[in-house]
This record gives sequence, structure tokens and C-alpha cells, in this order.
Amino acid sequence: MIRTVPTAPYKDQKPGTSGLRKKVPVFAQENYAENFIQSIFDSLEGFAGQALVVGGDGRYYNREVIQKVLKMAAAAGFGKVMVGQGGILSTPAASHVIRKYKAFGGIILSASHNPGGPTEDFGIKYNIGNGGPAPEKITEAIFERSRIIEEYRIADAADIDLDTVGSFDLAGMTVEVIDPVADYAALMEELFDFAAIRDLISGGFRVVIDSMGAVTGPYAREILEKRLGAPAGSVRNATPLPDFGGHHPDPNLVHAKELYDDVMSADGPDFGAASDGDGDRNMVVGKGMFVTPSDSLAIIAANARCAPGYADGIAGIARSMPTSAAADRVAEKLGLGMYETPTGWKYFGNLMDAGKVTVCGEESFGTGSSHVREKDGLWAILFWLNIVAVRKESVAEIVRMHWAEYGRNYYSRHDYEEVDTDAANGLMDALREKLASLPGQTFGDLKVEAADDFAYTDPIDGSISTNQGIRVLFQGGSRVVFRLSGTGTSGATLRLYVERYEPDATRHDVETQAALADLISVADEIAEIAKRTGRDGPTVIT
Ligand code: G6P
Ligand code: ZN
Repeated sequence: MIRTVPTAPYKDQKPGTSGLRKKVPVFAQENYAENFIQSIFDSLEGFAGQALVVGGDGRYYNREVIQKVLKMAAAAGFGKVMVGQGGILSTPAASHVIRKYKAFGGIILSASHNPGGPTEDFGIKYNIGNGGPAPEKITEAIFERSRIIEEYRIADAADIDLDTVGSFDLAGMTVEVIDPVADYAALMEELFDFAAIRDLISGGFRVVIDSMGAVTGPYAREILEKRLGAPAGSVRNATPLPDFGGHHPDPNLVHAKELYDDVMSADGPDFGAASDGDGDRNMVVGKGMFVTPSDSLAIIAANARCAPGYADGIAGIARSMPTSAAADRVAEKLGLGMYETPTGWKYFGNLMDAGKVTVCGEESFGTGSSHVREKDGLWAILFWLNIVAVRKESVAEIVRMHWAEYGRNYYSRHDYEEVDTDAANGLMDALREKLASLPGQTFGDLKVEAADDFAYTDPIDGSISTNQGIRVLFQGGSRVVFRLSGTGTSGATLRLYVERYEPDATRHDVETQAALADLISVADEIAEIAKRTGRDGPTVIT
């Protein structure tokens, strides 16, 4: 029943920030997916008879690869695979299922916020038993294995019916097709005050969630429309489609603009939110107020006790380095530990496992907590609804009051996409050479206090990550950060992160780009962005 199939290695199966991501036609090459899946299994030890969790964001090619994973897991000796009905599991839900059922690990099929379809992106990612993305030690081993693989093993069996919940036999292994939503929805109901949110909604507060044709549709419908009583249709683009209905499922001011405009309109909803392809990112918009991801982290941390799951307070906060320091001010005031990590959710795992932090966030629309080991879009949205319901104030009021208490961190990210790789590397190298000479220099009213190339020593396992972005810090708490993206697929993407701290509440109403204008021009002066990239402005501003 088990077939051993000879194969030849592909040389490009190096997992990136979040697993192996390639275009569908790459994955569809002969044995391409099989090679990678077998390389995962070959890099793991001790899973015989154990459970594996499998699911994806529903994008094009999801079902085909799930059948391969099931048959290859049976051949590899797993005792059981738990797979989401229809092949669906959001990334945070998969993380939760792995943890709840003490599975050995999980395979998540997703390319996150990238478009889906026959010529668009696909991805395979392995998560370990704590529910989080595999650490580099494992992804390196997978890559090494993929370079020399000569055969894979697969059960010769019929496809499993993924649409029917129940237990099935596959060559001696059990396949359990599970309701992808139930466990996750139950967890959210434990963490948040659903009764208070129900009252808010029945009192006329209008909430809209845009699932962008991606995986959170069924989750948001169950939670918002069924359990919280929002009217049918409150979840938009709620059916996960293989091509996301042509959407670019990335919740930000560019790709979720329709939702943003609707909430900002006079008769639009009071609260709007969106999630990405696999459900781990979030965007929150209140009437008259877009909440930046950095502020969102700070405000969730400051108001954590509003939610039953965090009623005893939080252990600490972590943010990625480019994320604004708004959360730092909350940590300081509440006497909490504060950790600044490199970009990438995987850096939060050790801190959460060690109980050092409870909530974490990144400027790239990621927020989450130790309830799972992935960032969690719906969790963040529900946290906001919980805070609004308990405080009985609007999103805009909550944000403004937060700024008044802690000061406002004006914040923006400018992306220069598909820049020539050599030019981008040259810019970063030139900056590195300048670092030592910057402190003490003044640019207009701005005086450089410090400048460095960010490095991180993990306080739990001592591992060191260097070259994580160049920071230029000015007196008074303003800064500019330069970094090359680790997730881009063509050329290089230069990210410029700009932040100004403004303690004075009478100056909290300036338009963001205007409030940052001098820093933006200093960043160009220091890094010669226009000259070196040949661009007269960024491609995307968030
Ligand atoms: C993914 C990761 C995040 C990261 C983001 C941006 O979503 O899960 O942790 O912040 O990519 O990464 P980049 O390297 O493109 O700035
Ligand atoms: Zn994602």
C-alpha cells in the first residue's frame, strides 16, 4: 500500500520568513510539493503514531496538496492527521488545534496575504508542537534535506472526502476531518466578554468585518453573526475562494480601502475590520479613526484587563524593532517587561513559552497573544470590540484618550518595492559605514542621539540575530529605520519606518505625513534614497 517514488532534488526549496512560498506553477512541477513534504518529515524525529494537523487558507491548489500530505503522512507513520473540513484552517486556528490536541506539529498551506490563483502564490509551512512556526534549526534541516532527496513515500489510496466531518482510514492511519471553526470560536468565547459585545451590537453599534474572500469568512460568520448577534451580511466577502475573488487579501489602507471609506462615511458602520488570506493579520478602523498596528498593540496592552482572558493582567509586551514605541510607554507605566525583537513572529515564541510576555505586535498588521503561537487577526478584532463594549466609548475616543495619557507616536512606513537589488544593498552598506559618524550631527531641528544596526540576543536561548535594520534615533524619541524586506519576491523592497513622539495633546491632530515630513526628508538625506533607487517617492505608504 506504500509506494516509494524516486525523485530528483529541486535546489530552491529554502523556507523564508514563513515557510516555502512560490508561485503555483512552481509547486505544480513534478514531485515539487512531494519533495518538500518528504523533506519536512525526514527532518523530524519521534512522530510515529502521533497526530499531525493540516489545513490551509483555501487558496488555489490547497486541496490537491492536502491529499498529498495525508497520503505521505500515512506513509511516514503518523498515527492520525486532523484536517479542517474543506481543507480549511486559518493560521491561528491551526496553531490552536495543534496545542489543544497536543499534536506533534502541523502543516499549514498558505501564502498569507499574497494573491491566490493558478498563476499566483502558494505556500507550505511547518509548525512545531507549541503551535508556532518551526525555528530556523528545523527549517534549515528541511532545506538541507530537500537538496539531496532521492525518494519519497506515499500511500496508494483513494482521496479522502475533505467535505465530510468524521473519521476515515487511510492505509492504517486515521484521518479526522474536523470542524475548522468550533475549537477556535470556543477559545475566543473564553477569552472575551461575548455578553458585553452582544449588548453593544444589539444596542445598535454597527460592525463590519471584511474577510477579503479568504479564510476568516467562516470564522467571522460563526463568531460575529451567530454568537455575537450581528445582522447577516455583517461579514463581507465571507466565502473563502481559491483566488480570493480577485482580492489582494492584505488588510491595509491600500487593499482594504473600500472598507475604510465605508466606515469613514457618515452613514457607514461604527467599526470595520479586515483580515488577510490566512487570518493572522488584522486592520481595525473606527468611525473617524484608523488605528495603526503600533497603536493597536499599545492600546490592547493598556486595556487588557477589560477582557476576561486577561483580567489578571499581562506578563509583558513584545514588539518588533520597527514597530513604534507606543507600547513601551504602556509597559513603563504598568511596570511590565518590554522586549524589542527583530521582524518576524517567530522571535516572540521563546518569550511567550517562557512566560515573559503575553501580548505581541508588529507594525505589519500583526497582533496576538500567548493564547496561540501565531498572530491572530480575529483575536485582535474581538479584543477591540471587547474594549469598546466595556469602556462604552468609541474607537476614536479610546485612541485619543490613549494619546492624551501616553503621548502620540506618529508613525508611517514607506515602501520602495522592486528596487534593484544591488542598489538596495548599496544603500544599506553605505548607511552602515556612516553609523559611527551620525551621533551628534544635527539636521534642522533634529539631533542624532544614536545610530546602530539592530542586533538581538534572544534572552531565553541566547541565540543572536544581526543585521536586522538600521536605526537612527533622534533626541526626543523620534527615529527613522531602514530595512530590507525579508518577504518580497522580486527585486528588493526597501522599507523606511518613520516615527515621532509627541507628548503635547494640543498637537495630536496633525495629518501623519505632515507630522513626519522633516524626518522623511532627513531619512532621504542620510540614506540617499532618491539618488540610489532612482525613485522620486515610495510605492506604498501605510
Ligand atoms: C510576515 C511575517 C511578519 C513580518 C512581515 C513583514 O507577515 O509573519 O512577522 O512582520 O511578514 O516582513 P518583511 O520582512 O516583509 O518586512
Ligand atoms: Zn498572514
